[in-house]
Amino acid sequence: MNEYMSIRSLLRSEDTGINVQTAGWVRTFRSNRFIALNDGSTIHNIQVVVDFEKMDEALLKKITTGACIAVSGKLVPSQGAGQDVEIQAESLIVLGESQAEKYPLQPKKHSLEFLREIAHLRPRTNTFGAVLRVRHALSYAIHQYFNAHGFYWMHTPIITGSDAEGAGEMFNVSVLDKQNPPKDEKGNIDYSQDFFGKETNLTVSGQLEAELGALALSKVYTFGPTFRAENSNTARHLAEFWMIEPEVAFNDLEDNMDLAEDFLKKVIAYALDHCADDIAFLEKRLKDEEKSKPQNQRSDQSLVEKLKFVVENDFKRLSYTEAIEVLKRSKPNKKKKFQYLINEWGADLQSEHEKYLVQHFGTPVILFDYPANIKAFYMRANDDGKTVRAMDILFPGIGEIVGGSQREERYEVLKQKMADFNVDEEELWWYLETRLFGTCVHSGFGLGFERLVQFVTGMGNIRDVIPFPRTPGSAEF
Ligand code: 4AD
Ligand code: MG
Repeated sequence: MNEYMSIRSLLRSEDTGINVQTAGWVRTFRSNRFIALNDGSTIHNIQVVVDFEKMDEALLKKITTGACIAVSGKLVPSQGAGQDVEIQAESLIVLGESQAEKYPLQPKKHSLEFLREIAHLRPRTNTFGAVLRVRHALSYAIHQYFNAHGFYWMHTPIITGSDAEGAGEMFNVSVLDKQNPPKDEKGNIDYSQDFFGKETNLTVSGQLEAELGALALSKVYTFGPTFRAENSNTARHLAEFWMIEPEVAFNDLEDNMDLAEDFLKKVIAYALDHCADDIAFLEKRLKDEEKSKPQNQRSDQSLVEKLKFVVENDFKRLSYTEAIEVLKRSKPNKKKKFQYLINEWGADLQSEHEKYLVQHFGTPVILFDYPANIKAFYMRANDDGKTVRAMDILFPGIGEIVGGSQREERYEVLKQKMADFNVDEEELWWYLETRLFGTCVHSGFGLGFERLVQFVTGMGNIRDVIPFPRTPGSAEF
């Protein structure tokens, strides 16, 4: 461990009068006297007071925005407003100078779009520091929740030979010569000569492997990166995102909904309890951002109110069929305001419909029992012959945050569904085989981690809640 105390612990310290050492990056240096120093351990800066008459002038010149410095001095009660304690510098070392004229993070407001272009430096801003700390707290809370509830974290593979969602949105993994790949007799690329002896891709979901785990350990979850080569340039889609996928033996869809609702409430409550300063900062940021929007686009709840509301209220559960009725009768549908009008049962729901439902009920919504043909092959068929035991959870401002289902555990039915959905039985032989050896009712869901971070931080664009976003046309850093 190094000798520096974190600024977070210094600001909480009541030990005034003692000598302390700390280090961080200079945010501002005013009047040749007051340094605002931040080390990322908290949203707050510590004020370092230097006596410029005692300090070397050449040294003071190097204390510019962005410079990395170490300070040693006395922790004293602060004279100024805004902080309880400050450091009276006795000695000061510049660990790393910052070229003042070139440093892109000047002490002023920068747009989020600009900050995306300097993702190597944006963690040093208040907003990204707060987002990254909340992101950490949420991932910690997730592991804590599952551990406390008897789940085992299962590390599912990142390179796979299957398309778990059957949507064909995969990134190919290959070491074959791109200019001149080997071909088979039909003229197709011969992947039998590739690294794994077969065609492989980055995983789109760990679910199928998690199911294997659940059928042995009863309760498992995955928490890892997933990859989708979908060309969606939206504020809610990434090509590389993190997903949490619990899978539980003996849980039916009801149990699955109960688990998802309880889980979401607990992890959001954890963030409210443990990230109060960061969330307060983000709440203010959001309020400022909303000031530039027309009144009807501003939210009537503050960020904290919104989070508390989700923690304290029941989610509204309704079937897809009921949702279609609500949508059909809705004003935007009657007045033809929806881009995709809802005319009949079977329509796939677009984000405009999801948003409407969440607003209509004023709470998060869990939709279940979707038409079989708009959902994945592995979902359990209902007796009506047209719907499956699927569920999606829709959140205010986010839309779909969770997608899950009870799984088809019956061998013959699953085999038939795979055929109907054109899912290669040979590729997923191992998945199908579990239905022959001790199959049972089981269910699970996937939570898009970045969408959860978006909700808790109030950030409008998913690119701003992951350190280095991967989106179509963009993989810098
Ligand atoms: O609804 P999805 O595609 O479901 C699955 O992958 C299932 N295998 C999950 C399961 O049952 N175990 O994705 C689950 C969630 C979505 O609800 C969404 O929150 C998030 O993952 N998600 C994305 N997040 C960011 N960028 C994308 N491109 C995303 N695609 C899905
Ligand atoms: Mg989905």
